[in-house]
Amino acid sequence: MENKRIVVGNLKMNMVADEVSNYLNKVNKNIYSDQVVICPSSIYIPYFLKQRYQVGIQNISSENSGAYTGEISALQAYSLGVNYALIGHSERRLLFSENDLTVNKKVKIAIKNNLYPIICIGETNEDKVMLRTEKVLKKQITYALKDLTIEDMDNIVIAYEPVWAIGTNKIPSNRDIKNTISYIKLLVNNLYHYNRVKVLYGGSVNKNNIEQLVKIDNLDGFLVGGASLKPDEFLKIIEVAVTK
Ligand code: PGA
Repeated sequence: MENKRIVVGNLKMNMVADEVSNYLNKVNKNIYSDQVVICPSSIYIPYFLKQRYQVGIQNISSENSGAYTGEISALQAYSLGVNYALIGHSERRLLFSENDLTVNKKVKIAIKNNLYPIICIGETNEDKVMLRTEKVLKKQITYALKDLTIEDMDNIVIAYEPVWAIGTNKIPSNRDIKNTISYIKLLVNNLYHYNRVKVLYGGSVNKNNIEQLVKIDNLDGFLVGGASLKPDEFLKIIEVAVTK
């Protein structure tokens, strides 16, 4: 992975087929393809691949293959041309009971099948109020990266997404984000003696706060949810994040 800022758009479970076509027509231009990753609903992945986007899958199975109705394996995604996999998004953790062990299994299976895992971590509002953000992040990271090798570190991305900032229009201050990103990088360095891990920020990134957010000098990019659904807004975020 190159040493440039990346912008990941997480479209979540939004849009029907016609809307996806419209979206593609609008977003198609000016996309900095090697620095932008789009994570559509899995059934629409081929649409995006056909237009040469870099694509991430929003979730993968923790199993290799077999009788797992409704699941999609890392190998299946890779065989289609997918490069990235979101793993452990807070919605998966909260709504689908994914725990740190599952996250670790998925991270390992992604790497084994040549997908770059984008490992999502973040504290809840309660964690923040109880001043246990670092403790929570430490646990999430330590589990997620368990049994990985130092070579694997080149292939992972961590997305710091405070749960309380997702879809709420609330974001931490630049100073708080910077301190937390430093903490995450230090932790990975302590665990793996690796100091180049890529860390993104996610949670209510939009066209109004992106200029402010790019000033955080230890950030490697952004994970954008709601704002990535609006082509103009997403293009603006990409432009600022990639060029400034
Ligand atoms: P948001 O979502 O940008 O809508 O807050 C971010 C995410 O869930 O990854």
